Amino acid sequence: MLLRCVTRTCHVLVLVLCLSAAEDFDWTKNNHGSFYYGTFPTGFSWGAGSSAYQTEGAWDQDGKGLSIWDVFSHKKGKVFFNDTGDSSCESYYKVKEDISLIKELKLNHYRFSISWPRIIPTGIKSDHVNEKGIEYYDSLIDSLLENDITPIVTLYHWDLPQLLQDKYGGWQNVSMINYFNEFANLCFERFGNRVKYWITFNNPWAVAVEGYETGEHAPGLKLRGTGAYRAAHHIIKAHAKVWHTYDTHWRSKQNGMVGISLAGDWGEPVDITNQKDIEAAERYVQFYMGWFATPIFHGDYPQVMKEFVGRKSAQQGLGTSRLPTFSSQERSYIKGTCDFLGIGHFTTRYITQKSYPTGRGGAYFTDRDVAELVDPRWPDPGSEWLYAVPWGFRRLLNFVKTQYGNPDIYITENGVSEKMMCTELCDDWRIQYFKEYINEMLKAIKDGVNVKGYTAWSLLDKFEWDEGYSERFGLYYVDFRNHKKPRYPKASVQFYKRIISANGFPSQREVESWKRKATETCSSSNQLLAADPLTSHMEMVTEIVVPTVCTLCILLSAVFLMFLLRRRK
Ligand code: NOJ
Repeated sequence: MLLRCVTRTCHVLVLVLCLSAAEDFDWTKNNHGSFYYGTFPTGFSWGAGSSAYQTEGAWDQDGKGLSIWDVFSHKKGKVFFNDTGDSSCESYYKVKEDISLIKELKLNHYRFSISWPRIIPTGIKSDHVNEKGIEYYDSLIDSLLENDITPIVTLYHWDLPQLLQDKYGGWQNVSMINYFNEFANLCFERFGNRVKYWITFNNPWAVAVEGYETGEHAPGLKLRGTGAYRAAHHIIKAHAKVWHTYDTHWRSKQNGMVGISLAGDWGEPVDITNQKDIEAAERYVQFYMGWFATPIFHGDYPQVMKEFVGRKSAQQGLGTSRLPTFSSQERSYIKGTCDFLGIGHFTTRYITQKSYPTGRGGAYFTDRDVAELVDPRWPDPGSEWLYAVPWGFRRLLNFVKTQYGNPDIYITENGVSEKMMCTELCDDWRIQYFKEYINEMLKAIKDGVNVKGYTAWSLLDKFEWDEGYSERFGLYYVDFRNHKKPRYPKASVQFYKRIISANGFPSQREVESWKRKATETCSSSNQLLAADPLTSHMEMVTEIVVPTVCTLCILLSAVFLMFLLRRRK
């Protein structure tokens, strides 16, 4: 009896310790520290990434159906310069070439996504499966494996089949859960013997908020205050369903893993000694990554989201919260559906408390009651929203460790852009960004965070959603003016390559020499590339003008000859 009592007390104690461990992220300490020289654990996986709509092109080829991004980008005024992903990098036709770039970097993995409408044109599996689309991904996967590169495959990187949007309202509709599950199941069936890392959704935050609340992204709906929450609710359930499908039907045969890739900007309290700022920063993070991670790891939305959206909905006179609820069955079904957590991280904000009056309509951005600030000293070389704040990365990773039980983490996206319309291969700001962000990730690993791999975003310059081609994230520059879409290495290729081969940062002397070496050749390459319009003009002359003129000459001579022969008769 006594023994049982002692054991029970111990259990309770352990439980209390575990629970408090889950709460122990320390908002009040932010040690930036100096650069850390050291290496990553053996077996750490280095990679680069892409996504289907952003790189493949071939938007209407070989039986592919339309996606919401095909339709959205063809509408005038939705994308910068009315750019589309119609041809983009033409990666659909360049498997071999892109793999040689991946090999040049000596990457361990390559992250790409499968276009749902390329393999199921209407989105509904029972309608039709497009074997040509399957062949494309087969050959990509096979070529990667032949070259010892592990494929990490995303099932949904934003390109929903248009028909599902037209017919059902896309992610507003609960029926997406089954359609997505059938698509995922088809992918497991056809590719799962070779693919061992699956990511169900990429950045569902953007799908929900930018697709259904602000309308900046496809499908461009502005369902203020409800659209994002509803879309997210269905996405979370769809993720869980796909995880269970894999777990029940495929895991024992295929031995793979299924995770999700969540976006997480870090929110740092403006004043870490001020409780109100700390609470605001935590709300910012909970409304961002926590919105998806908390149901997946703990079974339900973050308490603070339930409170804030619930209260604001009541103030609006609504009978129920705009944030949907999970039933208890759903909670236990969703909880624990993550074999690894993918994190896409780019930037940080300072956060303080700001109350928004409820007024008539609530909205995701006013529900949080926070204001975002930036330090004017933070570098912002490219995209307007992207400030380089390396220490925020380590803070986010430690937060994830404490909140979600120290899961295995793969960094699925991290990188920086340039907003340059002219050629620039000497990307020293990107070298700096990678150097410092990767170093903060190394520090996080030393803190005990389980980061298993890192994916630089992105392999190539590509279609940057509503920004079109005006923002370049690539390690490789793509010349979009040239119809052959040639790729050129930026200086950061050399730098990243050295981090990979040293598996970290061996010593100050060495790392400094890397930067020098990386930038040594880029200015001459720049000049070559700047001369490229001339080269492509000359190519056009040889490829189009010369053959056309020759054909015309032959035709004219034939006509002339016939004319002569007739006259002789
Ligand atoms: C996250 C998205 O997943 C990716 O497609 C995009 O290129 C990056 N953010 C940069 O904006």
